Amino acid sequence: MKPATEHGNVTTMKPAILVTGGAGYVGSHTVASLLERQDATDYDIVVVDNLSNAYRAEGRKKPECLRIIEEMTDKTIHFYEVDIRDATGLSRVFENHNIDCVIHFAALKAVGESVQKPLEYYQANITGTCTLFDVMRKYGVYKLVYSSSCTVYGEPEKLPLNESHPTGQGLTSPYGKSKYFCEEIMKDICRSDKKWMVISLRYFNPVGAHHSGRIGEDPSGIPNNLMPFIAQVAVGRLKELLVFGNDYPTADGTGVRDYIHVEDLAEGHVKAIKLFHQPGFSGFHAVNLGTGTGYSVLQMVKAFEVACGRQIPYKIVGRRDGDIAANYADVSLSHRLLGWRAIKTLEDMCADTWRWQSNNPDGFKCS
Ligand SMILES: NC(=O)c1ccc[n+]([C@@H]2O[C@H](COP(=O)([O-])OP(=O)(O)OC[C@H]3O[C@@H](n4cnc5c(N)ncnc54)[C@H](O)[C@@H]3O)[C@@H](O)[C@H]2O)c1
Repeated sequence: MKPATEHGNVTTMKPAILVTGGAGYVGSHTVASLLERQDATDYDIVVVDNLSNAYRAEGRKKPECLRIIEEMTDKTIHFYEVDIRDATGLSRVFENHNIDCVIHFAALKAVGESVQKPLEYYQANITGTCTLFDVMRKYGVYKLVYSSSCTVYGEPEKLPLNESHPTGQGLTSPYGKSKYFCEEIMKDICRSDKKWMVISLRYFNPVGAHHSGRIGEDPSGIPNNLMPFIAQVAVGRLKELLVFGNDYPTADGTGVRDYIHVEDLAEGHVKAIKLFHQPGFSGFHAVNLGTGTGYSVLQMVKAFEVACGRQIPYKIVGRRDGDIAANYADVSLSHRLLGWRAIKTLEDMCADTWRWQSNNPDGFKCS
């Protein structure tokens, strides 16, 4: 692992928000949301990322998405190419900045790949998270927002899914288990010391892109997720969409998911860190981030066809192992606790994805 060197401006001791995995899809949109706020100059934004799933152009110091966000916002992002398993590298970041809280995105996230490479997933997602907690404790930083997933619920017993639904049952992939194990570890850490404040945000299905069309999801290889798959078919990078199963007990037989615009999701993180300043707030809190509405694969295809003005050829194939028929969130806790709700529509999700994909058919490599 490489030593921590900063690629930003002169280090200051202003309070800072550390964003691990901030060069990735959800992380970069959250960095953009944090910097687009009026009070953005009150704190520094520090990103740690090992660039395992983010693109940096030859000869540049910062990954492309962060360079673009700096250009859009006219603000500086302090960037460190550091792996979260590297305690020395992380410590240097804590030495260089007055870290107030951490938003922890860094993880490996491909469900299928995790079945082939469980050790890599557990090392990155669990060892990495434990190392981060250890370094935070060493520097007296006790506030963390965690990227969890609705995957932790496994097969839903009843819909909509609320936060008291059992977790950890019937999880099939090491990826899903890593999210569940991390939540359990965080609960234990919070029980051990009342100083800890952890908000675990259980995302449903993040889609869409920044409304500017300048940053978005840039998966390598054939996308695992529906929306980037559809978008790459629409732009001609892939021939046809594969629809995994049309015999589920849903209205049109295809899987139903709760898709949430990544800018709404990002705003959920901005709201979550405000809770840290609420008197008496402490301990572990899991909160769903979704819209509360489910759409089927074929509904998504139709909505995307309207946004891009093209037909999306698709082929029905067999179900994928581990896929469930339907899930969507009970979002009442996010309203109550965070004062947050998703405001972007399905049309926004499709239009923004299309703007990003059509402006950047090869992702960040074209920007
Ligand atoms: N996108 C989704 O569908 C989704 C759904 C639920 C939860 N999540 C969770 O949200 C988080 C962010 O997801 P994303 O879609 O933005 O993924 P992403 O792959 O785009 O972003 C993750 C970032 O973390 C970095 N990274 C990975 N391992 C690292 C390590 N060991 N040290 C430092 N950096 C590392 C990658 O380079 C990447 O930039 C992840 O924890 C993921 O599990 C994502």
